[in-house]
Amino acid sequence: MKIKNICCIGAGYVGGPTMAVIAQKCPEINVTVVDLNEKRIAAWNDDNVENIPIYEPGLSEVVKDARGRNLFFSTDVDAAIDKAEMIFISVNTPTKTYGIGKGMAADLKWIELCARQIARVATTDKIVIEKSTLPVRTAAALKDILDHTGNGVKYQILSNPEFLAEGTAVEDLHAPDRVLIGGDRETAEGKTAMQALVDVYAHWLPKERILTTNVWSSELSKLTANAFLAQRVSSINAMSELCEHTGADVNEISKAIGMDSRIGSKFLKASVGFGGSCFQKDILNLVYIAKSFGLNEVADYWEQVIIMNDYQKRRFAANIVKTLFNTVSGKKIAFLGWAFKKDTNDTRESAAIYVADYLLNEQAEVEVYDPKVTEEQIYADLDYLGSRSEEENRRLLKVIKDPYEVCKEAHGIAVLTEWDEFKTYDWQRIYDCMLKPAFVFDGRNLLDLQKLAKIGFSTAAVGRPIVLQEKMAEEPSLAI
Ligand code: UDX
Ligand code: ADP
Repeated sequence: MKIKNICCIGAGYVGGPTMAVIAQKCPEINVTVVDLNEKRIAAWNDDNVENIPIYEPGLSEVVKDARGRNLFFSTDVDAAIDKAEMIFISVNTPTKTYGIGKGMAADLKWIELCARQIARVATTDKIVIEKSTLPVRTAAALKDILDHTGNGVKYQILSNPEFLAEGTAVEDLHAPDRVLIGGDRETAEGKTAMQALVDVYAHWLPKERILTTNVWSSELSKLTANAFLAQRVSSINAMSELCEHTGADVNEISKAIGMDSRIGSKFLKASVGFGGSCFQKDILNLVYIAKSFGLNEVADYWEQVIIMNDYQKRRFAANIVKTLFNTVSGKKIAFLGWAFKKDTNDTRESAAIYVADYLLNEQAEVEVYDPKVTEEQIYADLDYLGSRSEEENRRLLKVIKDPYEVCKEAHGIAVLTEWDEFKTYDWQRIYDCMLKPAFVFDGRNLLDLQKLAKIGFSTAAVGRPIVLQEKMAEEPSLAI
């Protein structure tokens, strides 16, 4: 089966980059990415490719190459569905905020809407691909909706979860560890559909990297992968607290255990807590699914990963308060970073949001600098928590465009995102304009603490002992 037209519903962090790379690598296939959000589509079509709505290293170049040739962004969802032989569903599946499963289950409202729209519009057979992360067995629900239209159109449902990480999306798409395709291997139609998708990826990937499984394994593999990765971060974060009490250094521990090939070195970086759109949402979903089968021990096991992560964020904020002589009321705390990790403008579930909320509850004055996140987004994140009025959020928290300005007259600096540029700052200049004693709280283990201590900073980094500026350490009244 030769695919000539692909449609992707959802022009977000997953759909946009994934389709851009498919279009780049498959010049004979027309790829149309559609979204209901007109502003988002307009940004994808902006003449200046630097203005596309998602910041990902290398993505603008890929879009520049393919856009207008065989990559199109449009709000005409129906037309793109009708024309395509293959439809990717790449819409948001946030945690439910209402009703049964509130706070845990994935909200499949948007997925169902897509299925109904496809069912309404399609006049020719389609391969429908789940790209968004979904609870195991969602394909059955999709099939149910699609197969009951009575118009004779036939559908094959595949699961093709996306493993790309933000900030390295283009790299991950160009050279993924594996691509996973789940489908119905029992029927000829199922096999043909799977092969059609294998052929798309085979344009640039060796066959042995393309795994095929049954649909349920594919759906559950995605949840499992994210749960395992998040669990590693929570495990090392749990050790980070023990390090702070014992004089061990969490970075040294990560290195030592990571060299054991059975453990491996990745995802062992202690931090202020993991964020991002996937980890928390997917684990909560996993917990919900386990509970719904009555598997309470399985559910409790995975829930602990989230409990640890929430604790890590709270602990980081509480440590700032404790170190600043047990009060931050009226004190300026400068935030370096708001994104949930470097090289992305995405802030979903970013630890910075929760640390800010905690400190604002303690009446701190927070000022934020992030090289990529907009002021509008920062306030939207805070307002979404509903902890205080929008006016109060704008009064207590300011967004500053200049990193030196944000640190001026601050009592403490908190590093929330590991942006490389933070390492290159003139830290002497920063020290000179801060209130003394000047504190740095490194939530990412990013900065050279020794260098900072030499300048005169007192520093506290996750999983490492507090280093008080020499003069302070000698002064018992200032010891913590
Ligand atoms: C994750 C998965 O990695 C990806 O495969 C999946 O498709 C989507 O979810 P992403 O959320 O983009 O990707 O970022 P990731 O690099 O996994 O980081 C998630 C969070 O964990 C970030 O906040 C990051 O800072 C944190 N993290 C990661 C750590 O704190 N320590 C680590 O060692 C690794
Ligand atoms: P992800 O990180 O999974 O890509 P995003 O929230 O960034 O999630 O993107 C999902 C996109 O899907 C949003 O831009 C949203 O407007 C779009 N979307 C949701 N439902 C539909 C729908 N029925 N038709 C078209 N687009 C949709």
